[in-house]
Amino acid sequence: MMMAAALSDARQRPQTVVRRWDRAGGGHADLGMELPPRSLRLNPSRVPKARLLVLLSLGLLGFAGHSATADDSPFPGPRGAGLDLASRADIWDRPPTNFLERFVRVSRDQVVAFALYTHDAGVLKMTAQLFPLRPGEPREVRLEFKQGRQWREVAKAPVIYPGWSAHFRIPAWDNTRDVPYRVRHGDSAMFEGLIRKDPRHKDEIVIASLSCDSNADRGDRREIVEKLLKQNPDLLFFAGDQSYDHCEHTAAWLLWGHRLKEVLKDRPVVTIPDDHDIGQGNLWGEGGIVADSEAGDSGGYFYPPKYINMVHRCQTWHLPDPVDPRPVAQNISVYFTRLRVGGIDFAILSDRQFKSGPKGKIPQMGLRPDHIHQAGYDPKAVDRPGLQLLGDRQMAFLNAWGQDWAGAVIKAVLSQTAFCGAVHLHGSKTNRLLADLDCNGWPQTGRNQALAALRRALACHLCGDQHLAVVVQHGIEEFRDGPFGFTNPAMVNSYYGRWWWPADEKPGQRPIPGSPLPWTGDYLDGLYNRITMMAYANPELGDMRAMKASQRDPSVNLGDGYGLIRFNKRQRTITFECWPRYADLRRGDAAQFPGWPITIKVEDNDGRRVTGYLPELRVLGARDAVVQVIREADGEILYTQRIAGRSFRPRVFGPGTYTVKVGRDTPEGWTARGLEPVSTAAKPLTVRLP
Ligand SMILES: [Fe+2]
Repeated sequence: MMMAAALSDARQRPQTVVRRWDRAGGGHADLGMELPPRSLRLNPSRVPKARLLVLLSLGLLGFAGHSATADDSPFPGPRGAGLDLASRADIWDRPPTNFLERFVRVSRDQVVAFALYTHDAGVLKMTAQLFPLRPGEPREVRLEFKQGRQWREVAKAPVIYPGWSAHFRIPAWDNTRDVPYRVRHGDSAMFEGLIRKDPRHKDEIVIASLSCDSNADRGDRREIVEKLLKQNPDLLFFAGDQSYDHCEHTAAWLLWGHRLKEVLKDRPVVTIPDDHDIGQGNLWGEGGIVADSEAGDSGGYFYPPKYINMVHRCQTWHLPDPVDPRPVAQNISVYFTRLRVGGIDFAILSDRQFKSGPKGKIPQMGLRPDHIHQAGYDPKAVDRPGLQLLGDRQMAFLNAWGQDWAGAVIKAVLSQTAFCGAVHLHGSKTNRLLADLDCNGWPQTGRNQALAALRRALACHLCGDQHLAVVVQHGIEEFRDGPFGFTNPAMVNSYYGRWWWPADEKPGQRPIPGSPLPWTGDYLDGLYNRITMMAYANPELGDMRAMKASQRDPSVNLGDGYGLIRFNKRQRTITFECWPRYADLRRGDAAQFPGWPITIKVEDNDGRRVTGYLPELRVLGARDAVVQVIREADGEILYTQRIAGRSFRPRVFGPGTYTVKVGRDTPEGWTARGLEPVSTAAKPLTVRLP
């Protein structure tokens, strides 16, 4: 019994204390001691003396000697030895000793945990997620569809280890019908759901946006699931940090899906992994190189590519095929792609995979390479030429996507984190940080280029990661000239809280009229990026200890919950809603966080000052055509958009001559060159589309 207690303690500790490498420095305080990778525990001669004493006092070596060994790990090398212990094929040889190890041992009729799917361009992709299988159990699952009253098996797929996932790709998918599905394993295990038809005939497409499911709360997520079932979104988007158990992705991912399966099972779902999912506190992927520490600030990935690819496979295989599937360094997979749901066209990015790590590339201006404390620093000093944000391949994708409107009425970009640092206090109300480079506000040139690409497509941005919900309008050259961004709140905000709290406690320029919040309007973030704060949802408590203690208390506002975005195709509007975890839907919009809902016009995502209009276009041969405007002086595409109806007056932002192109789904079909701004009385141009 003594042994079991020590063992349990030892197994918990690396996951919950040592592996916590919080973003903003506050986390360092509770790091306590540093333990070596688990593989080292097997050989006392390799452990430094001081550490050896600590390990012996924890009973760690005794534990390591008696069960799982590095040789059994499916992941290579010392960094791979301690990964996914709770879900390894050999768990059946030893008793469970902690929460996740107990959780994954389900009865055999429950081994199909959940399934995720999307369909786009006539291809259905589905991932079935299984709990760990016992030796001798079939390593295969079957997919069945219901046709009339009959269930018919349509495909089989092998269960892939590590990760225990299985994958189905069904071509020639007819997306005009609802199709009940079930995934079966063995004689008794089954997971049942519905593949929805594409909701193209609905005026309003609703997407729920969630992230950051704190592992301090191992309870259910019923209060969120129940609300989502009532609000019935057409698409669920999980922006990352589905797992905070750095070394235990499979078990944590299973727990995530198990808690949410009632709402996951019968609608398309986008999941993208963030830093914690792949076992790092921060990630600057730098094209897949090897990171020198778990902190990741040198750039790259700390854990073996086999672990990273397992996470990518479990979380993203069910997305539409990657648009540019070439792997990055170490053969790490990529997943950036496009998904259309009901006429809303989502670019799905992996915003940290190509990004440069800050360490050694910019002058250090704080205690860590990724933190800036010096007010008044020159922002150009950290915005060095050659630093990458989205990377060339994702920028090429975004630029092509912005001009292709097939199946699209409104566009939006989904990624992990925000294109600004819209936060002041990190981890506690006493920890003020000027800038945290672990956001898409840095490098600033990459940020502005990415936002300009969104603006050219009138796309808003949805993300997570920050734990603090905000809606901002980005400024690129000026305040309010860029697209809107909605950072969703943490689902459960007991991992690392953040606050929007200007040091002078003053509103910015031009505060948002009618907002109940004191600090809205125009601000520079800590990277001197322009942002206009529209709304934010600060936690009411002041530090993580208090927030953890209250994490399941509905009467306390921790600023956690989720976003709901309504894309109205008829009105061409986007409404951002923000719902507290414990909101009571019967109270209607009053139950949302103060400052929400916020409704914008799609065209508000291009906030440049309009100086004039080109001759009105009258389009024959097509409704809702696609119009592109190019500035001839430099060949810059100002925007490409789907218009509403048959006539359109192209706006421009300065004098000069312009080329206008019009087409059905892409701007190919009709072209006029040398157009100049004219008065409203000018004669319209007739556009005949072939
Ligand atoms: Fe997070």
